[in-house]
Amino acid sequence: MSQPDPAAPHSAPPCAGLRIGDLAPDFEARSTVGPVRLSAFRGRWLVLFSHPADFTPVCTTEFVALAREAAAFEKRDCALMALSVDSLFSHFAWLRMIRDRFDVEVRFPIVEDPTLVIGRAFGMVSAQDSNSATVRTTFFIDPKGVIRAMTCYPANLGRSIPEMLRILDGLQAIDAQGGLAPANWQTGETLLTPPTHDLDEVFGAEEATGWFLRATGDAS
Ligand code: BEZ
Repeated sequence: MSQPDPAAPHSAPPCAGLRIGDLAPDFEARSTVGPVRLSAFRGRWLVLFSHPADFTPVCTTEFVALAREAAAFEKRDCALMALSVDSLFSHFAWLRMIRDRFDVEVRFPIVEDPTLVIGRAFGMVSAQDSNSATVRTTFFIDPKGVIRAMTCYPANLGRSIPEMLRILDGLQAIDAQGGLAPANWQTGETLLTPPTHDLDEVFGAEEATGWFLRATGDAS
């Protein structure tokens, strides 16, 4: 794959197609666990992610790490679904190699997308690449099918599985508690309270920041 020139003009950066708050486009496709339909995952969280190609070094480390952490996603009632342009039989051969070499079975579905119809619908295809590989895009989809967060990494940088779990935990905590997750928030830590819209509370707060920057449960 050619290295993108950061100075080159580009009309459609990865992730441009969809935005946070959009309903994830539905699709039906062949996968390593049989046919899958995105909308069939409603009612659970779903992490849908693309990888550039099977049998590549960084992707292999990601799949080994994700398969080893599959129970952590399951514990959060979150399904995993991967996607690339490679064929179903390439996926099978890669998973067999991963099992034999790394002693771990990848049991979450890997979708084949040979025509890139799904990759394009999700903006997973880099406009800068000369080939048709998808970049490392990750969509965090809530139980209503809404995209709540997304990340985009280049082919030469692997994703952090702890960060994927932290994003999931943050979104689930925000939904459950109605607060805001601050910088470097970690699972189990306190959330922030949304700021007041009431001028009397702004002037009445003891601290200068007390009306907009406080942990849930703190008095202003
Ligand atoms: C990798 O996963 O190692 C990789 C994939 C595509 C291009 C470069 C690296």
